[in-house]
Amino acid sequence: MEMKSSKSVLLTGGTGFIGSFLGMRLLEEGYKVFFLARRKNNKDARERIRERLSMISPAASKYANQWSVLEGDTTLQFFGIDNKVLVKLKGQADKVFHCAALLSFSSNNEAQARKINVQGAQNATELAEFLGAELHYLSTAYIAGNRTGEIREDEFDEGQSFRNAYERTKFEAEKIVRVWRDSKNSRAVIYRPSIVIGDSKTGLAFSFTGYYAVARFFWSIAEFFKREGEKVSNFPLPIPVVRDSALNLITVDAVADAIFRLSEKSESLSKVFHIVHPYPPKNSMIFDTSIKFLGFPRVRIWPVSLYMLRFLAKLLWLFSLFLGRVGYFLRRSGGN
Ligand SMILES: NC(=O)c1ccc[n+]([C@@H]2O[C@H](COP(=O)([O-])OP(=O)(O)OC[C@H]3O[C@@H](n4cnc5c(N)ncnc54)[C@H](OP(=O)(O)O)[C@@H]3O)[C@@H](O)[C@H]2O)c1
Repeated sequence: MEMKSSKSVLLTGGTGFIGSFLGMRLLEEGYKVFFLARRKNNKDARERIRERLSMISPAASKYANQWSVLEGDTTLQFFGIDNKVLVKLKGQADKVFHCAALLSFSSNNEAQARKINVQGAQNATELAEFLGAELHYLSTAYIAGNRTGEIREDEFDEGQSFRNAYERTKFEAEKIVRVWRDSKNSRAVIYRPSIVIGDSKTGLAFSFTGYYAVARFFWSIAEFFKREGEKVSNFPLPIPVVRDSALNLITVDAVADAIFRLSEKSESLSKVFHIVHPYPPKNSMIFDTSIKFLGFPRVRIWPVSLYMLRFLAKLLWLFSLFLGRVGYFLRRSGGN
């Protein structure tokens, strides 16, 4: 808390994926960073941030006196920061980067997601207002929900519906930031990344949602074939992929770089930015590369139409129902 500089920011989510890379980038650019972080698994917040930064850069230790940690929780008013510290922070941190969120898609976690994502955004606006700081808010391209086709940065509520708790709560959260920005003429920038993957040079990642769920699926197939390879001999496994479909992946360093550069420009204030890949890779290419990387020659990409994929998914579902029934009868007859 002893840091005094005109180039100071407060950043949430510094133990997470994007927040840690963005924090590192800000340090490299000469910023002083107040990380708002939690203690977890018996590790204090400072140690958690130090670990993250040193994983990202071997030179992290040279920035050690450029950052400090405020222990807090984004679900609390002013993130639970002590009053005296808040007063000291005023006039020091002139930007708040709000990266903290819960990325769970599960409806079981919806209440928690609402607390962290929606209440968290509300608390971020109040904190930025108290500090007289700009708010740089991390939204997501997926606030577009089930919309298809071209989706513009100036569009928000287009009557879309949402496929999961994450999309819904992030939409509600962005709405809070927009209302605050518009009603109070406050300074806010909204960033909407697509699907973020590891560093472009090292592959380092701290969050394994999105693309990594697909990679995990391929990995488990590869492991299965390593174990059972002899038994299933040369049986080829076709993976159906919708022809010409693409996944908008973007590397975490590109996201941190874009956010940093945009946050430096006064013209960015009040704007929304899609932080996405301009030429997203085709699914067939992503899957093919993943399979080759895993060293699994028997898998073949099978390009199909969307209708065909839906038909196959239905067939698989019916087959699993059938297997469930057979299993049930076998267990019952075995029991008798
Ligand atoms: N990853 C993506 O593909 C992606 C794509 C588009 C947009 N985004 C957005 O980018 C932002 C960052 O995502 P990410 O991938 O970096 O997420 P992440 O790796 O899951 O990190 C989430 C961060 O939020 C912190 N956090 C959660 N609840 C908190 C609370 N109550 N108090 C304090 N900190 C809390 C976590 O702290 P702990 O370590 O203590 O849990 C962690 O540092 C999010 O707003 C997300 O919606 C992400």
